[in-house]
Amino acid sequence: MSIQQSAPKSRNDTPLQRERAPLAVPIRSLGANHRERIAGHLLALEPHDRYLRFGYPANDEQIRRYVDRLDFEHDELFGIYNRDLTLIAMAHLAFSVSPECKSCAEFGVSVLGRARGRGFGSRLFERAILHARNEGVQLMFVHVLSENAAMINIARKAGATVVRDGPETEAYLRLPEADFDSHLHALLDQQLAEMDYSLKAQVKVFRDWLQAVQEIRQGVREGRSQSSP
Ligand SMILES: CC(C)(COP(=O)(O)OP(=O)(O)OC[C@H]1O[C@@H](n2cnc3c(N)ncnc32)[C@H](O)[C@@H]1OP(=O)(O)O)[C@@H](O)C(=O)NCCC(=O)NCCS
Repeated sequence: MSIQQSAPKSRNDTPLQRERAPLAVPIRSLGANHRERIAGHLLALEPHDRYLRFGYPANDEQIRRYVDRLDFEHDELFGIYNRDLTLIAMAHLAFSVSPECKSCAEFGVSVLGRARGRGFGSRLFERAILHARNEGVQLMFVHVLSENAAMINIARKAGATVVRDGPETEAYLRLPEADFDSHLHALLDQQLAEMDYSLKAQVKVFRDWLQAVQEIRQGVREGRSQSSP
């Protein structure tokens, strides 16, 4: 087992030219009513991404079982929605139930392929750190495959100690105690995300309505042209 030093980045599968996420990305706390969307997000991951996310090549049934067992009361789930209300990125902060590590939590994350390289993974990690601190967590873990350069990079950038053990790597981050700022920050983040989501939901309803009207108009036009001599 060896503690890795910062290595030069090889970014061969990173779409570097993509637009980075703005500093304040609306990240929503996800409740049980988001279960189906979480399932949709995870089922949309390519086989290799499922392998990186779960540490094994999870099939659809295993993903469904994982989603069915999510405990929204005990753990925290976060998500980033795009304007179509597709869950493009999500994270799971699982609080330890082990008596030996009461103030520990484990982080897991996934970003849809088309939304990568924009900073969403990093933002979710920062959000999870903030939430974990506010919940009294002292040690946050990420269990990754050693080939997962992007995730190791995210953890290392946040100051995690990265310990490689052959094909598997453990990153752990010691968190400072919560303070007034961390609570305020989390509150503002949550409010921003709620506002953003309700705005996107309204815009989506309006766009869907507009599209339905256009389809009706198109149908009327076609009907007229067919009935005209
Ligand atoms: C890991 C994952 C969440 C990263 O999401 P993302 O939104 O693309 O992450 P970010 O945009 O915040 O980028 C992460 C950092 O890693 C870098 N990176 C990306 N690919 C890399 C690679 N192959 N090698 C080295 N660095 C890489 C990015 O450039 C970025 O660094 P920077 O901010 O210094 O430029 C995403 O790739 C994913 O969903 N993978 C499948 C599931 C998974 O692996 N989950 C993690 C295990 S729990």
